[in-house]
Amino acid sequence: MTTPFYITTPIYYVNARPHLGHAYTTICADVIHRYHCMISDTNFFLTGTDEHGDKIMRAAKAENTTPRAYVDKISSLFRELWPQLNISNDHFIRTTDPDHIEVVKMVLQKIYDQGDIYFSEYEGKYCFGCERFYTERELVDGKCPDHETEPETIKESNYFFKMSRYQQWLIDHIKEHPTFIRPERYKNEILSFLREPLDDLCISRPKSRINWGITLPFDKDYVTYVWFDALLNYISALGYPDSEKFNTFWPVAQHITAKDILKPHGIFWPIMLKAAGLPVYKHLNVHGYWNVDKSKMSKSLGNVVEPLQLKNVYGLDAFRFFLMRDMVFGLDSSFNEQALVQRINADLANDLGNLFSRVITMVHKYCKGIVPSIDTSIEKELSLGLKDKAAEAISKYQQAMGDFAFHKALTAIWNLISQLNKYVDVTAPWVLAKNKSSRGQLDVVLYNLLEGLRVIAALIYPVMPDTAAKMHKHLGLDPREPFYKMHTVKAWKNLPSGIALPKTVTLFPRVQMKETNTSPAEKDENKTLNPALKPEISIEDFARIDLRVAKIIKAEAIARAKKLLKLHVDIGEVEPRIIVAGIAGSYTPEQLTGRQVIIVANLKSAKLMGVLSKGMMLAAGNGEKSVTLTLDETLPPGTQVR
Ligand code: MSP
Repeated sequence: MTTPFYITTPIYYVNARPHLGHAYTTICADVIHRYHCMISDTNFFLTGTDEHGDKIMRAAKAENTTPRAYVDKISSLFRELWPQLNISNDHFIRTTDPDHIEVVKMVLQKIYDQGDIYFSEYEGKYCFGCERFYTERELVDGKCPDHETEPETIKESNYFFKMSRYQQWLIDHIKEHPTFIRPERYKNEILSFLREPLDDLCISRPKSRINWGITLPFDKDYVTYVWFDALLNYISALGYPDSEKFNTFWPVAQHITAKDILKPHGIFWPIMLKAAGLPVYKHLNVHGYWNVDKSKMSKSLGNVVEPLQLKNVYGLDAFRFFLMRDMVFGLDSSFNEQALVQRINADLANDLGNLFSRVITMVHKYCKGIVPSIDTSIEKELSLGLKDKAAEAISKYQQAMGDFAFHKALTAIWNLISQLNKYVDVTAPWVLAKNKSSRGQLDVVLYNLLEGLRVIAALIYPVMPDTAAKMHKHLGLDPREPFYKMHTVKAWKNLPSGIALPKTVTLFPRVQMKETNTSPAEKDENKTLNPALKPEISIEDFARIDLRVAKIIKAEAIARAKKLLKLHVDIGEVEPRIIVAGIAGSYTPEQLTGRQVIIVANLKSAKLMGVLSKGMMLAAGNGEKSVTLTLDETLPPGTQVR
């Protein structure tokens, strides 16, 4: 049996609709789960909803409904959202499930019986948003750091869990298992918290104040504190205490949360497990916040972004890709729709999408759409180390996935995509196609490109499962086969020759910004521009101009046209395109050949001196001398200029 893997998300409160923050955590868990499906057959992925407590009771009251009806409604919003985001969870737990309630009572009774729970009176500062007491030193300017509201002073008799008894054990455990809480900054945060004596945890709420919760098994006048109830979902969902699932998955449990709930997961939870005589989880993986204008995106701050809206406008895989590529797991990130559009156009439409359609188009054009077979005697010299480059990308990708460094895993894939784009430029299949004697070479080149794309299709599977399946289908492979299994991915030359490929497909259409994020201050700055310039245009107008990096492959004079040159430029299309440029007064054809320039790629074609020009090369000049716009570093032809 392969090594089992168990991943959980927090169970989300049902006091608000799901937003981008919830979607991010759940997509992270989905990506890591799908990645583990590539390397193992025994995986379990859990998500769900946290449905008890004061917060929920108040939300139900505000809607003039019962807590039961309310939790059913909001929980189903989460449950129905996840399939629309391609979330592959194996189970969806609700803390109102009878099995879960039984487990909470069982654990409470055990801990109570062994003397770890006592009854006492307490007065303290209580944040209703967090549903917990805060100590003075935890407050920021007297306010709850999460809700930015002043907590209320509450005096009550309650049950307390003797966490202090386990403080030294927890410190030792964290030190002995350096990746127990990761990334390291969060481990350090917990260790620094543990330097002060731990307060015991108030684990009950009197029914006179809150009655929406699990009744304490040893006092019917109290309900269980929502965190003591919620954390136990991670074991109740596995069928604790005596199920095979529990025995298989609990020893390898990994949680994902954002930093807002670091303390319950990094302190309460391991201590609860220890007190209950259970092994602790393996890793707590903590990520940062999606912010909007420096504030955490949250319902209480009223700045949420709806995941489904973004999915509907930009496409699911593009949305998933953006979240995984733009946030460094562990750090905060600012949500910016413009960055999303740029990522889609540059990384997806341009780098991956163009490469894929270009290669499939060439296979149709030069090989009748059939995957060519290769002549092994010339294979090595023509492969230019592509196999090793793929192996290196896979190894970096696996290392990054193991560390939850999704952005690094994607960078490793995009490096391989860039290598493949370079391979097209260097081998120039359209030149090989012109000569019958280079047929064998052309076949090797095209086969290698298809094989590279097969590897890429599999590696993107965890983040973009639909695109992976689409690529797979267009590479002529059977979608029922587990094409993403790592041993298959690693086997170079796995693509069978002789199969017919469906016609090419656009993986990612280019997109335009639906709404600009220009702040009023930025708009004012623009007004100070020199008034002699051309009238202002909008960002949408500018975005209609498709500027690309082009490589001049050949330049030649045009008969009877002193000022014009005919340029053959490569912008990553199947064949070079022709551009006529009025630059003969400033450059000879030889000076231009091999140069990287910038062109307007979507200018309407026009005939100049009998030559059809498709685009325009940019140059700066005063009408007499012109200077081409070049780059100070080499980039793949077709790279977008923004
Ligand atoms: N119910 C508790 C968790 C109990 S787990 C045993 C809870 N629920 S919550 O609905 O508030 O969800 C918090 C989690 O939602 C965060 O830890 C994170 O996973 C996700 N996020 C909510 N807002 C977020 C951001 N702005 N940015 C990133 N993640 C966000 O706490």
